[in-house]
Amino acid sequence: MSQNSAVWMITGASSGFGKAISLEVLRRGHRVIATARNLESLGEIKTMGAYTMSLDVTASVSDISEKINAAVKEHGPITHLVNSAGYMLEEVLGQFDTNLFGTIKVIQAVPPRMREAVTDFPKVIANFGSTASWTGWPSSSVYCSSKWTISGLTEGLAAEVAPFGIKAIVIEPGTFRTRFLGKACGSRQSAGCHLPAYQKTRETVNYYMDLTHNTQLGDAEKGACAIVDVLTLTGVAKDKEIPVRLPIGSDSVEVIGTKCTGTIELLGMWDAIIKSTDGKASCEEDKRSGSGVRASITGCRGVLRRSSRFPVGERGFQDLVDLEGEMLRREASVERISLGIDAEWSCLQMEVLSPGGRGLA
Ligand SMILES: NC(=O)c1ccc[n+]([C@@H]2O[C@H](COP(=O)([O-])OP(=O)(O)OC[C@H]3O[C@@H](n4cnc5c(N)ncnc54)[C@H](OP(=O)(O)O)[C@@H]3O)[C@@H](O)[C@H]2O)c1
Repeated sequence: MSQNSAVWMITGASSGFGKAISLEVLRRGHRVIATARNLESLGEIKTMGAYTMSLDVTASVSDISEKINAAVKEHGPITHLVNSAGYMLEEVLGQFDTNLFGTIKVIQAVPPRMREAVTDFPKVIANFGSTASWTGWPSSSVYCSSKWTISGLTEGLAAEVAPFGIKAIVIEPGTFRTRFLGKACGSRQSAGCHLPAYQKTRETVNYYMDLTHNTQLGDAEKGACAIVDVLTLTGVAKDKEIPVRLPIGSDSVEVIGTKCTGTIELLGMWDAIIKSTDGKASCEEDKRSGSGVRASITGCRGVLRRSSRFPVGERGFQDLVDLEGEMLRREASVERISLGIDAEWSCLQMEVLSPGGRGLA
C-alpha cells in the first residue's frame, strides 16, 4: 500500500507529541505541514523537510481557513489532521479557547479540503484528549473538562465524517515526558488570582505536578511511533481498524479501568433509583395495536454500535436506528440490515450482513 500521497497537518508541532509525530511521519516519507504559534520554534522540523506555518489555534476560523487553503494549494488535500495544540491553564475561557475551540476551528477549516483527497488509505482526524477525558482531578477541573469535551466531540465527529470515508479518533495519553507539566517555559500555567479557600489543594497538586515533570512514564517518541502506526494502519496496527478512542501509556489503563469499574458499580448500586423515573412502557400497547417495530421501539440510551441487542427504553430509539442503518448501508461492505424485536419484547435486535453473508454485528 503506497502512502506517499499522505499529507499531514499537525498543530502544536513545536514540542512534545506534535513534534514527535511530525518527525516520525517525515521519517516515513510523508509530507508534513507542521504548525505552531512561532515559526522559529519549528526550525528542526523544517530542516528535516517539513513545510512549516505559523498557526495560533485561537485565531478566527477565517484566518485559520485562509492559511490552510494556501497550504493545500501548495501541497494537495490534507489526509491526516493531528490536533495536538493544547496546554493546562487554570482559567476557564483561556483553557477552552485553545483546547476545545481551537480544535473545533481547525476541524471546521480542514475537512472541506480533506473530503477532496483521493487516497488508498484512511483519511483521519486525530484529536488529543487525555486520561483526564475519563476522570476529574482537583485543581485541574478546567483542564479535565476541556479534555472530556474533546473526547465527546470526537465520538460525535467520527459518526459525522464516516460517510465521507474519514475516520476521527481521540488520542488519550497517560503522563508523557514532554514540556507539558513544565512551569517556566512549559504548558502549565496558573490563573492570575486564587481563592484562599483552595490554596492547600492547589499547593498539594502543584507539588505533585512538579514531582511528575520530567519523570513521567511515557516516552513521547515511542508514543508518536504507535500513534502514526494506528493512524496509517501499519506496523503494530496492521490489519486493525482505527478506533474512536486510543488510550496510550500503561498508566492510562489503570485510570480508565478504575473509571469503568466504578461506573458499572455505580449503575448497579443505584439501579432501582435510576430506573424509577421512566414513563410507562408502551410495548404491550403497541403489540396490541399491531403497529410493529417502529411503534414499539420507544427509545434508547446511547449510540448504536454494531452489537446485536439494544434495550427498549425511552423515545427516540427509532431515529437512532434509522441513522445508524443509513450509515451502515452507505458502507460498501454492508449488504443487508434487518431489525426485529425479541420474543420478550425487551430488546431490539439488529442483524448486519456482509456480502459474503457473514454477520458483522
Ligand atoms: N504530555 C502529557 O503527559 C499529556 C497527557 C495527556 C494529554 N496530553 C495532550 O497532548 C497534547 C500535546 O501536549 P504535549 O504533551 O506535547 O505538550 P507540549 O510539549 O507542551 O506541547 C504543546 C504544544 O501546544 C502548542 N500550543 C499551545 N497553545 C497553542 C495555540 N494557541 N496555538 C497553537 N499551538 C499552541 C505549543 O506550541 P507553542 O510553541 O506555540 O507554545 C506546543 O507545541 C496536548 O493537547 C495535551 O493536552 C499530554
